[in-house]
Amino acid sequence: MELKNDLLLRAARGEKTERTPVWVMRQAGRILKEYLEIRSKLSGFIELVQTPELAAEVTIQPVDILGVDAAIIFSDILVIPEAMGLPYTMEEGKGPLFSNTVKNEADLGKLKIADEDSLGYVIEAINVTKKELNGRVPLIGFAGAPWTIFCYMVEGKGSKTFSHARKMLYTNPVFSHKLLDKITDSTINYLKGQVAAGANIVQVFDSWAGILPAGQYDDFSLKYISKIANAITDVPVIVFAKGAYASRKSIGSINCDVVGLDWNMDIKESRSLIGPDKTLQGNMDPATLYADFGTVKSETRKMIDQFGKAKHIANLGHGVYPDMEADKVKCFIDEVKEYSSRL
Ligand code: CP3
Repeated sequence: MELKNDLLLRAARGEKTERTPVWVMRQAGRILKEYLEIRSKLSGFIELVQTPELAAEVTIQPVDILGVDAAIIFSDILVIPEAMGLPYTMEEGKGPLFSNTVKNEADLGKLKIADEDSLGYVIEAINVTKKELNGRVPLIGFAGAPWTIFCYMVEGKGSKTFSHARKMLYTNPVFSHKLLDKITDSTINYLKGQVAAGANIVQVFDSWAGILPAGQYDDFSLKYISKIANAITDVPVIVFAKGAYASRKSIGSINCDVVGLDWNMDIKESRSLIGPDKTLQGNMDPATLYADFGTVKSETRKMIDQFGKAKHIANLGHGVYPDMEADKVKCFIDEVKEYSSRL
């Protein structure tokens, strides 16, 4: 179907656009009272993820309420470990918890390679969303990067250090690569399923990129992201590797279209490391949205000025936090649209 607003896709391919497209990581849920209303009627987050009609509804909410230039399918990166055989729960105020973790060859042997059938509820949510979006804006599909998923599968929960996962890389690199391979194959199946169902672009979230030193990052993470980028041929691929400062040059050399920057990555320096070809995404400090409206606007303009008008998708440097005001997020979005269309 023809998209009425395809700014994001044109910018991702490096084409000129009338203005800078904008969306916000973690825009679906968290900050919208309309989301919390739907969520409060259910047993929890996982039920919402697994109910396609409701997942579609909360996916579209930020398009209607905030005016973003793309929807991102409401799901979680942790559906992959679940489909591979490690179910999780979402503990109120604490985050994800896995009852089993991957410790040895026996655990690894029991893991399945996920396919689109095991994630049919996400594929169905994409079908419903596409129908209801009716071509208004593109739909972003996503998955976690294999390294970030490895962190949760080995650790079993969130962590500041992910020391069990990091220990595994040093004590059993061969085993680590086998697990990363299995996650990568699952992720490729999953993303291909999302694209077949109608996702117009996909983002790979490497939220825990920043805890690895550069040499290990290239070997245990970027290699697998690169494999994914090579396998997804029909739509643009965005790679967001939070904190991967030392690996920006190598990220610039893989077969992706867009590189996401976090808020500590200097824009000019990142452009010179990544090179002129790729589109950059980001990167205002999310905490700016705690400031007054005037500051939100002036910081947004500063960001736009540094990226310039071409080859940029405006976003925050990481997701919005749950206690942020929707009006501040909208102020950021409106200012990107207004200011960049005057450039
Ligand atoms: O962008 C979007 O809004 C689409 C949906 C989306 C969610 N999670 C929904 C969600 C996306 C893209 C994610 C990605 C995700 N999930 C990441 C990568 C991005 C990042 O922030 O670094 C990670 C690391 C996770 C794992 C995860 N999911 C954690 C640690 C938690 C608990 C803490 C938190 O972030 O709220 C979740 C839960 C989660 N995922 C919620 C939502 C809306 C909150 C659940 C609730 O409503 O109670």
